[in-house]
Amino acid sequence: MSESTGPRPALDLEAFPPSFAWGTATSAYQIEGAVAEDGRAPSIWDTFSRVPGAIDNGDHGDTACDHYHRWPEDIALMKELGTDTYRLSVAWPRVVPGGDGPVNKAGLDFYDRLVDGLLDAGITPSVTLYHWDLPQALQDRGGWTVRETAEHLAAYTTAVAERLGDRVTRWATLNEPLCSGWIGHLEGRMAPGLTDLTAAVRASYHLLLGHGLATRALRAAVPGARIGLVTNHSTVASASDRPEDLAAAVRMDGHTNRWWLDPVHGRGFPADMRELYGVDLPERPGDLDLIAAPLDWHGLNYYFPVTVADDPEGPVPYAREVRVPDVPRSGMDWQIDAGGLEALLLRLTEDYGVRELYVTENGSAFPDTVGPDGAVHDPERTGYLEEHLAACARAVRKGVPLAGYYAWSLLDNFEWAYGYDKRFGLVHVDYATQRRTVKTSGRRYADIIRAHREATAG
Ligand code: IFM
Repeated sequence: MSESTGPRPALDLEAFPPSFAWGTATSAYQIEGAVAEDGRAPSIWDTFSRVPGAIDNGDHGDTACDHYHRWPEDIALMKELGTDTYRLSVAWPRVVPGGDGPVNKAGLDFYDRLVDGLLDAGITPSVTLYHWDLPQALQDRGGWTVRETAEHLAAYTTAVAERLGDRVTRWATLNEPLCSGWIGHLEGRMAPGLTDLTAAVRASYHLLLGHGLATRALRAAVPGARIGLVTNHSTVASASDRPEDLAAAVRMDGHTNRWWLDPVHGRGFPADMRELYGVDLPERPGDLDLIAAPLDWHGLNYYFPVTVADDPEGPVPYAREVRVPDVPRSGMDWQIDAGGLEALLLRLTEDYGVRELYVTENGSAFPDTVGPDGAVHDPERTGYLEEHLAACARAVRKGVPLAGYYAWSLLDNFEWAYGYDKRFGLVHVDYATQRRTVKTSGRRYADIIRAHREATAG
């Protein structure tokens, strides 16, 4: 890259093995646009983004980054950054527009071209099957609150795997089922916008069942597939040493972390949380074995820690988030704490016994602008990146089997309920012109990748 980012604090890059995968991540609805092209049908996000007040500025994903048409340029950007892997998601409503039933060849053709383009550029695709864009047709039949949706996920998975499985090895079933389950069905801040505990618990169950069924479908369709699940987590601190606050932190940990990890790692759904929710799980014999099917890797998405206090009248799990004063925060108002990433990597390794890990998302939003010099200087994001990579290096030195890191995100994109104002990209997008500009953080990431290659070569 032409612009040097100058001297920087030393990073322990030799901690990472030579095979370490450096990547960027995106998801379909956040970047593709082209929502009505080539047979795509609406997803729950097309619907939700039309609900008045649901999305800041009334934004939606109709055009987004126009990646559907500009993907060759975006692959060129990845090459410019020097990344060797790219995490993308496939849009279910492009491939099976009705949710179940006929497969749309034109939808698969797009991902076929994209995968070939990546491979031609020497970039390994990592494909996530479900990043929140459920076909609206399935939502109309109950969405994740009904078992059939999990079964339809498996059928859609087979269609994608049969088309791409000759070239794609690294697969993830779901991205962040916590957000689909809790934020989409309990908090109402994401599609489908429900605020119903029973619906949320049933959705969480069917999401994890869908993960199990999709894993089985992938194993059958793609011999040699490396399959993982991507979950998002936070470290949870108690606001005080009061027993009530300490208990609230245990509940929040159950809600945020254990509910999603325990069943996948063979421990079943945590008893304390089952009791707290008080909702019968729609269990059938054999489900827990499916949910706990052996995986090849686990993907951790990490952004921020949380601190909670007891709140018996508050939202489930009766714990209120407490704002910690005088700490660094991103443009999302999320606390910045790289130590949380190290702690969670260690927990997944030591407590859950994960043997191959990726940081599948990590990044920060700040209000970037293109300067008079045409550049986007984003020192806060650069600092966030460096601190979190340093945390990864410390974790690796302590024995964490970390195989790769995906920066969120390659591009500024549609940040769900926050619309386009929140910019997470290493590459700035001017939405009026679709002009892409590599930010200083992107240049720093390129320098780090190059330095790691040099440090570990031969
Ligand atoms: O943009 C999201 C992404 O879709 C899922 N993980 C968190 C990111 C930032 O909020």
